[in-house]
Amino acid sequence: MWDKLKTLAETQGAGQILDLFAADPSRFEGFSARADGLLFDYSKTSIDAEVLQALLDLTEAADLPARREAMFSGEKINETEGRAVLHTALRNLDADPVLVDGQDVMPEVLSTLSRMEAFATSLRDGSFTGQGGAITDVVNIGIGGSDLGPVMATLALAPYCDGPRVHYVSNVDGAHIHDTLQGLNPETTLVIVASKTFTTIETMTNAATARDWMAEKVIDPSAQFAALSTSASLTGEWGIPAERVFGFEDWVGGRYSMWGPIGLPVMIAVGPENFRDFLSGAQAMDKHFRTAPAAENLPVLLALVGIWHNQGLGHGTRAVLPYEQRLLRLPAYLQQLEMESNGKRVAMDGSDLTQPSGPVVWGEPGTNGQHAFYQLIHQGTRVVPCEFMMGINGFEGDLKHQHDLLLANCLAQSEALMMGRSLEEARGLMQKAGLEGAELERQARHRVFPGNRPSTTLLYPKLTPFVFGQIVALYEHRVFVEGVVLGINSFDQWGVELGKELARTLSPILAGTEPATGKDGSTRGLIAAIRGAQ
Ligand code: F6P
Repeated sequence: MWDKLKTLAETQGAGQILDLFAADPSRFEGFSARADGLLFDYSKTSIDAEVLQALLDLTEAADLPARREAMFSGEKINETEGRAVLHTALRNLDADPVLVDGQDVMPEVLSTLSRMEAFATSLRDGSFTGQGGAITDVVNIGIGGSDLGPVMATLALAPYCDGPRVHYVSNVDGAHIHDTLQGLNPETTLVIVASKTFTTIETMTNAATARDWMAEKVIDPSAQFAALSTSASLTGEWGIPAERVFGFEDWVGGRYSMWGPIGLPVMIAVGPENFRDFLSGAQAMDKHFRTAPAAENLPVLLALVGIWHNQGLGHGTRAVLPYEQRLLRLPAYLQQLEMESNGKRVAMDGSDLTQPSGPVVWGEPGTNGQHAFYQLIHQGTRVVPCEFMMGINGFEGDLKHQHDLLLANCLAQSEALMMGRSLEEARGLMQKAGLEGAELERQARHRVFPGNRPSTTLLYPKLTPFVFGQIVALYEHRVFVEGVVLGINSFDQWGVELGKELARTLSPILAGTEPATGKDGSTRGLIAAIRGAQ
């Protein structure tokens, strides 16, 4: 199967995307797909019918439909941790039963959702008070999956944010919590400690700092703390009363968790109704993913385009380029989602992967990126497949001309990447500018764009909570499909453990209570330099 893809990569991959349009005037229709108002265009890639079929064959060989059903139905597909993978249950608003070990998880999911809604409402209407009255500010302390999703969502849904101000602290760098708490009134602030395990050193350290800060002014700080965690015992030991602990189960992976309690700060910001719309959007994508034929299935197609570019053509990087300022943190969120999920070197059975693992994912909203790194995308020696996205409509009705300019820029970039500019055209430009001879030739070469650079475009109506939910779920399922085709377990993250273990051994060495014996020469040298200058 992979051999076929590699052969096609050598032939088809060497061709011109523009030739595919010339050969097939209806290429846009054939190589784009729609789902509930979203349009995914992958016609500006070198995928043709034969490549698409070879990619679809890979999903068949990997038994994708069965793996997908195994996920949705609560089988323990996270085999290295012996866990089910059921973030989809958190947005299963129809409450169809979902069984884990023979038990329907939906009653618990929905009862927690109702408790979150009641709590969020009490904060929003001022009936929950701190020592100084109604809560004006919420500080969410979490990291990784307990931070990136909610931060992204709060920014994305800014037009819907009408509750208390929500702030996020993640980094153990004291500067983060210091700068966040500065200017806040502890008597009207609620602190949420968001940690699936309730053991993450960064989060627990910041939580302790926040408690000390609050204790300077508030007689009972625990009355202004809430916790989001799978560990009822650890939250209790930490002193957070059970009525403000919102629990979830180990079948919700950290980076897939913002649909449940980890989304509480988002719900506080936008209100329960908008949060439900967000869940509905994700649920609509779940239904589409589960039922649409593979060749029309957005998550499947997005994954296959990624596989064609990375494992097929060898482009090991992918740029995510939202033309939507409010999706500012989407690239960072996708970095965790994609790189923590599919950045693995062994397959589910422990054997070495036969293909490269998931790509390096990065990006920045357009048009800012255009004035920073697009130079390399257009003229650098390596090809960076680009994923553009844009909303047909913006929220700022009186600034429609700016939105139109934004869209024009997005379209211009994918067009420029594919069309490029030939040496002939560049020479023509230089001639017009009055150059001639060797100088014309030299200057013209700098103005050549190789073109034939692939991109996809995701078009959506407007960044409402529903649409935002669709987009995030689309990417979640894309990661799942890529993982299935590569044979990876996309739901563990053993690669983050070693650094955590070593940090634990280094803290006492830095504090001077343990010797640096056993550490490598570089680390010993750095420790000595730090200690000598502190
Ligand atoms: O270190 C990685 C990680 O385990 C992520 O997978 C997770 O999202 C993050 O840490 C935070 O973990 P927790 O929610 O348990 O504090």
